[in-house]
Parts: sequence; structure tokens; C-alpha cells
Amino acid sequence: MLNVLDLHTYYGDSHVLQGVTMHVDSGRVTAVLGRNGVGKTTLCRSLVGLTPARAGRIVFNDTEITRLPPHQICGLRISLVPQGRRIFRSLTVEEHLAIAGRTRGSLAGVSEKREHRPGWDVRKVYDVFPRLSERRGHRGDELSGGEQQMLAIARALVANPVLLVMDEPTEGLAPMLVAEVGKLIRRLKDEGTSILLVEQNASFAVKTADYVHVMSKGRIVHSSEPAALWANGDIRTQFLGVPRVDPPVARD
Ligand SMILES: Nc1ncnc2c1ncn2[C@@H]1O[C@H](COP(=O)(O)OP(=O)(O)O)[C@@H](O)[C@H]1O
Ligand SMILES: [Mg+2]
Repeated sequence: MLNVLDLHTYYGDSHVLQGVTMHVDSGRVTAVLGRNGVGKTTLCRSLVGLTPARAGRIVFNDTEITRLPPHQICGLRISLVPQGRRIFRSLTVEEHLAIAGRTRGSLAGVSEKREHRPGWDVRKVYDVFPRLSERRGHRGDELSGGEQQMLAIARALVANPVLLVMDEPTEGLAPMLVAEVGKLIRRLKDEGTSILLVEQNASFAVKTADYVHVMSKGRIVHSSEPAALWANGDIRTQFLGVPRVDPPVARD
């Protein structure tokens, strides 16, 4: 579905992505893991056109999107849940969703009309996030961290994505809310949405993802099924900062 080939992205002279090659399969949850500062957010920004790559290619379902502007990438139905939520303090929940819905309205292509997939809209978002429905008249700065994260996800869903890119969705959330995000990701996958989950929380990502890429210094240094990653003590300690623990021994 999404293929990234030898991608190089810069901020000015600073060479951040140094040849990222990775893929996201349709209908699956694919994680990108790595410590702070390795380039995960930059990869997300390059994927959605906010910080275009200088070299390399991003191909989405046979369309090269490497240098498309963000609104065209959004029109192909790739949505980003940005790191840090990016909620507007002075806009209400309802206004956030209305703006996202309008963008979708102006971008919805023929493909969406032809399609029979049920899709997301504001009504479905309120069904799935009853708390947001209760808080629909509240402003961004009146929401808790968990509510802001749900709103950031809801806003991305209103664009009815086929690929949802989530940049550290569990950052700063209490364990119960992390579990909620995990449940939501599984539900989205069951409904046919493909997900790219970017995380520093390795144990959450390994539990949630079907496939994982590990990033270090602007490159992918390991790609495998989650179980194989977790069994690899060297990768875990070197690139994820997860202490080396012997796997539990099965006993009769
Ligand atoms: N807007 C920017 N301008 C210059 N350098 C940046 C900018 N954003 C991030 N960087 C640098 O790029 C590197 C990768 O950052 P980032 O992609 O945010 O990493 P991660 O998401 O893995 O923590 C870091 O060294 C960071 O300081
Ligand atoms: Mg980041």
C-alpha cells in the first residue's frame, strides 16, 4: 500500500532522514519505533507532504506522492494524527470536527462516491467517542489530555482515511487511556483502515502492531514481526532502551 524508498529529508542543512526504506501493508498495523530524535516525526511529516523529502520516493497505491502538497495527499485519504495533538485552544470540539469535515467535503473525490465502504463522518465519530459528544461545546483548552488526544484522532478520522498515520498517540496518557487507544486501533483495523503507528512506547507498539520497523539516526535498522523484535535483546537495548530481560520460560 505504502512504499518508502531511500528517503532523504532535511531541515535546512540538517540531514535528518538518511535513506529511510520501509513499507506499510494494507489492512495491517505497522509500527515505527525508535528513541527520541531519530527522525520519526520527520518521517510522518514527509509522508503527508508537510516537510517534503529532497530525495527518494514515497509510493502510495501506485501513485508517487513524494512531492505532492499536503492537501493532495489528504485527498488520497492519508491522514495524520500529529504528535502533541495540535488542538486549537479557542475552538470547540464541534468546530474542530466541522473544519476537518469541510476539508473532506472539498477533497472527496469520485473514488469515495463510488466506494461502498461505510466511512467516517462527524456522526460516527460522536458514536465512537461519546465523551467528545458530551464535550462538543467545550473549547480545546478546557479538555483533558486524554480528551485532546481523542479529538486529535477523531479529527483525522473525519477525513475518512484509508491510511491513518499516528505520531506517538499514547504520549503522556495514563495507562487506562493507552489501553483505550489500543482498542481503538484494533477496531479501525477490523474496519479495514491501515495504520502506521509511530511510537516510543515499545511495549505498546509490539502488542498492537502486526509488523515493526525500528529507526535509528534517520534510518530503518530492523524490520520484522513484533515477536522477533521482542526476542532480539540487542535491538531492544540498543535502539529502544528496553532493558534486556530473559523471555519467560514455559513450564509444565
Ligand atoms: N523544524 C525543525 N528544524 C530543524 N531541526 C529539526 C526540526 N524538527 C526536528 N528537527 C531535528 O530533527 C531530528 C529528528 O527529529 P524528529 O523527527 O522530531 O524525531 P523523533 O520524532 O524521532 O523524536 C532531531 O535532531 C531534531 O532536533
Ligand atoms: Mg516525534
